[in-house]
Amino acid sequence: MAALPLKNVCTTILAFLALAWLSQAELDAHYYDHSCPQLEKIIKETVLNASKHDPKVPARILRMFFHDCFIRGCDASILLDSTPTSKAEKDGPPNISVRSFYVIDQAKAKLEKECPHIVSCADILTIAARDVVTLSGGPSWEVLKGRKDGRVSKASDTRNLPAPTSNLKQLIQSFASRGLDVKDLVTLSGGHTLGFSHCSSFEARLRNFSLLHDIDPNLDSEFAQNLKKKCPKKPFRAHNAGHFLDSTASVFDNDYYKRLLAGKGLFISDQAIVGDYRTRWIVEAFAKDQNLFFNQFIASMLKLGNLGVLKHGEVRRDCRVVN
Ligand code: HEM
Ligand SMILES: *[C@@H]1O[C@H](CO)[C@@H](O)[C@H](O)[C@H]1NC(C)=O
Ligand SMILES: *[C@@H]1O[C@H](CO)[C@@H](O)[C@H](O)[C@H]1NC(C)=O
Ligand SMILES: *[C@@H]1O[C@H](CO)[C@@H](O)[C@H](O)[C@H]1NC(C)=O
Repeated sequence: MAALPLKNVCTTILAFLALAWLSQAELDAHYYDHSCPQLEKIIKETVLNASKHDPKVPARILRMFFHDCFIRGCDASILLDSTPTSKAEKDGPPNISVRSFYVIDQAKAKLEKECPHIVSCADILTIAARDVVTLSGGPSWEVLKGRKDGRVSKASDTRNLPAPTSNLKQLIQSFASRGLDVKDLVTLSGGHTLGFSHCSSFEARLRNFSLLHDIDPNLDSEFAQNLKKKCPKKPFRAHNAGHFLDSTASVFDNDYYKRLLAGKGLFISDQAIVGDYRTRWIVEAFAKDQNLFFNQFIASMLKLGNLGVLKHGEVRRDCRVVN
């Protein structure tokens, strides 16, 4: 009984280690150096131009990247359009309100002219996500490339995204199931230094919150009143009503963590990471030291960008449809 199974186990473990090593090694900062040397310049120009025309673009691209990687890995599944027979991720429930796909389309169109059929949509999105952070005042880093594009996008998969009502246990589980630890959770939540949220994502905290509290007691009371004004009850508010995630919502900085400590995190999931000793110390450290946050953000974005990477797949010609 002893020898053979043990040998099998060892072989299996070795095979896994080799696989893990290969899938890491497959991504490479210089992947397109010969096949498409202009790649990074083209994407950066496109993203900069789009962000000048519409300041909402950076936040949308960063969120798009997060959702892409959390569903089926970083395989550009979020870019695929629905087909007559299949509803795609981007049209999934709950309405995930990711926008600005046209920016990726613009970059792809230019790249198809410059170096046709070379650069995957998954790599374009990964590079664009880095670029929007940098152009918003955040750090810069070298993006690893060589992802291939997936062929599947399912609306029902968006159920696997963490919800703004998640508690810490649920958030930790959601990240852990993707190989991301508690530090990655707190760090990547810092993406909420950019952008905007609709009332529906946080209004449960504002009225009839619990038996004892009409308003979530973790919210700063002045901030809560302000949010209530922005978000009147349903028939009385515009469909796009909401609030910025951060007081400096177009600047990538550590203000998000300072606001968390002041009871001004917008979502229950934001509050969750400051309300528990396992994560609060990280929030405090990032609030004090922006460089620490920036350096950890780079590390966690690299991990996020490694999730479920496809080594064998296709390079889409059009990011909205499979070849
Ligand atoms: C930890 C779990 C997370 C939850 C529960 C969550 C949830 C949400 C929700 C509900 C919104 C607002 C959607 C709306 O009402 O329009 C939002 C916006 C946003 N999220 Fe997250 N998020 C999480 C993590 C992340 C991560 C890891 C990133 C990126 C690193 C990110 C980046 C963003 C950005 C940039 C926006 C603003 C989008 C815009 O302005 O259009 N989020 N998030
Ligand atoms: C810049 O962005 C605008 C708005 O999206 C677009 O119409 C225009 O074609 C872009 N120009 C370049 C050079 O990408
Ligand atoms: C969901 O998003 C789509 C666009 O992707 C929009 O047309 C639709 O009105 C949204 N539905 C709701 C209920 O917000
Ligand atoms: C508040 O919530 C309780 C239980 O969740 C519900 O029974 C009650 O109708 C709600 N009140 C209002 C004013 O919405």
